Amino acid sequence: GIDISKLRDQTGLITLDLGYKNTGATISDITYLDGDKGELFYRGYPIEQIAEKSNFTEVMYLLLHGELPNQDQYTSFENNIKKYNFIADEMKKIIDVFPRSAHPMGVLSSLTSALTAFNPKAVNVNSKEEMDHAAELMIAKFSHLCAWTYRKTQGLPLNHGDNNLNYVENFYKMAFRLPNADFEIDPVVVDALDKLLILHADHEQNCSTSTVRMVGSAHTGLFASISAGVSALWGPLHGGANQAVIEMLELIEKDGGDVAKYVAKAKDKNDSFRLMGFGHRVYKNFDPRAKIIKKAADDILTALGIQDKALDIAMQLERVALEDEYFVERKLYPNVDFYSGIIYRALGIPTEMFTVMFALGRLPGWISQWKEMRLKGDPIGRPRQVYQGAQKRDYIDIANR
Ligand code: ACO
Repeated sequence: GIDISKLRDQTGLITLDLGYKNTGATISDITYLDGDKGELFYRGYPIEQIAEKSNFTEVMYLLLHGELPNQDQYTSFENNIKKYNFIADEMKKIIDVFPRSAHPMGVLSSLTSALTAFNPKAVNVNSKEEMDHAAELMIAKFSHLCAWTYRKTQGLPLNHGDNNLNYVENFYKMAFRLPNADFEIDPVVVDALDKLLILHADHEQNCSTSTVRMVGSAHTGLFASISAGVSALWGPLHGGANQAVIEMLELIEKDGGDVAKYVAKAKDKNDSFRLMGFGHRVYKNFDPRAKIIKKAADDILTALGIQDKALDIAMQLERVALEDEYFVERKLYPNVDFYSGIIYRALGIPTEMFTVMFALGRLPGWISQWKEMRLKGDPIGRPRQVYQGAQKRDYIDIANR
């Protein structure tokens, strides 16, 4: 038979790096993070300054175009998004047929892919102008889809957009306006949403972004590439962690609030339980986004006059874990999702919607990375492998097996 080890020699040197822990997949100008120092920059600007001073629309522009917009550029970008602030009525029929119990991330991924059918011109894009146009379409339509998946879980009629509002307010109204009720924008809530979306906007080559790049590297259209990113984000080891964190905090609360017991479970190698919202592939120091979100969670609970036992438990968990040798040795700190769910909960957003909110925030990052990859002409993504399966053997007829 063929000696596979010889074949392997002929293919040259292959880097085997499971999980791509130390393999660069591209050269990027968008986001820089220093995992040891716990620092994050969008296009060179520190996340702390961006979170404090900017707004989500401006951050989307910054990520997509590389520079902060001047007033004219900002207005024109915002107006372009408003131009596409509607969705074909046929899309409503698609959402109608999903069961109400469907997980919103599955619905969102399907609807995002379905957008392709209604925007065929945005599929085969090659020039920068065509890419920017597809990006603006995507940004406008995706906020509808996120709002509508929420309405679906609640059994509420679907709302259209309101162009008198900014992007985040428009999303908020589409998602939360009740039928036949006056609607007021609560600035505290919109500010909190804005901050959360900004903090999630990009994070270099994370799992969902790498997925968008990988799918897009075959020159698949933007909408289909983003749909794949939504699916990747859904997983509990990635964006799904925000839902898993709240479920974990609720579990601990129901179990009498015995934080130490769960820290011990997380350390037990015979138990698959992990402290959700702890640890990060790259941050080996505090996740800078977690610091900002922790403060925002405190602020919003105070502003809305909410006392949340989950926040107390989260803070206790953080205290206990950060003093524990197991977590210290492995450099496991709270990540961005440890506190984001507490804010979403305070805003009345159901747990299953948390990852959809993450997707809305991550969208400009996904699009910017897709655009960068296409403009730089990165080749199709196609990793190698090390084969360990059977040697060559002859086929045996089913009757003789
Ligand atoms: N609880 C307990 N132990 C943990 C945790 C945790 N949350 N995270 C990592 N560890 C341990 C591992 O068991 C391993 O221990 P060992 O060396 O004794 O075997 C060590 O720390 C290293 O962990 P890995 O899984 O090898 O680290 P990796 O970089 O592959 O995983 C990940 C990172 C997926 C984030 C992991 O820390 C985890 O599962 N965390 C919980 C889920 C979570 O919060 N995900 C959100 C990530 S942020 C985001 O996507 C926005």
